[in-house]
Amino acid sequence: KNGLQTDLIGNKIVYIKEVDSTNLYARKIALEGAEDGTVVIADAQTAGRGRLGRNWSSMAGKGIWMSVVLRPQISPEEVQIITLGASVAAIKAIYDVTGIRAGIKWPNDIICDGKKVCGILTEMNSEVEMVNFLILGIGINVNHTILDFPDEIKSIATSLAVYSGMNDKKNVKLFRRSDIIKKLLYELEQIYNKIKKGAVKDIIDEWKLYSATLGKQVRVIYKNDTYTGTALDIRDDGRLVVKCDDGCTRDVFSGEVSVRGI
Ligand code: BTN
Repeated sequence: KNGLQTDLIGNKIVYIKEVDSTNLYARKIALEGAEDGTVVIADAQTAGRGRLGRNWSSMAGKGIWMSVVLRPQISPEEVQIITLGASVAAIKAIYDVTGIRAGIKWPNDIICDGKKVCGILTEMNSEVEMVNFLILGIGINVNHTILDFPDEIKSIATSLAVYSGMNDKKNVKLFRRSDIIKKLLYELEQIYNKIKKGAVKDIIDEWKLYSATLGKQVRVIYKNDTYTGTALDIRDDGRLVVKCDDGCTRDVFSGEVSVRGI
C-alpha cells in the first residue's frame, strides 16, 4: 500500500490538484465522517490558510500542502501538544530526507536561517469538553526558488531547495515531495501514538531539543500589547514562559500571540 510505514495515518489519502485549502477540505470530509488518520494532499491551494488569520502562499507543485483528520480522545487544552508534536515530526522528516537541520520557533514554525520553511495550523471541532476531531494542517516549502515567493514574504520565507543551495548557488537541490510526505506521516504516527499513551512529557522534551526560541530574546505581541523578554521554558501544556524585561514572568498561550526573535 503506497510504501507507507504507518498503520493508521494515511490509510486513506485524498489527492487533489487544486483546492481552496486542504484544511477546509479535510474539515468538510471530517464532518461527513472521514476516519481518523485520513490525509488530504493538494498540489496547489488557492486560499491556503495560516495562523492568526494570515494566508499561506501555496504554489502548484512547489511544496507539501497537507491536512490530516485526527480523532483523538483528548480535551481541547491538549490540542496544543499535538501541534507541538507535529513540528517535531516535520523537523525529523525534513532532516531525514534532506539532511537539513531546521529549528522550531515557538509554537510551531519551522525555520532555516531565521526564515520560515514550514508552518502548522491546527483547527478543531470540539463538543465542549471533548475534541470531536481536529485538522492538522502542514505546509512545507520544498522546491521554490527565492523568485517563486511573493514579494511581501521574500525576506521571511525560504524553501528546502533554497536553503540547501545557499552555499552552492549553481546547484540548487530539488527534493522529492513524496519522500518527505512518507517520512512525515511516519513521524506523525509516532507522535500520535505517544499522545494516546499520554507521553506528553516526551513530546515537550523533544520539542525543546529542536527549539530555536528557548534562551533567546523575544518580543511578544498580543492584541495591542507588546512586551519583550527572554524565553525561558515551555510548560507541559505548551505555554511559553517568558521572563519579561519588567521583571515579571509571563506564560504565553499560542492562540493569539506572535512571538518574534529580536
Ligand atoms: C502558519 O504558519 O501560519 C500555518 C501555515 C499552515 C499552512 C498549511 S498548508 C496545508 C494546510 N491547509 C491550509 O490552508 N493551511 C495548512
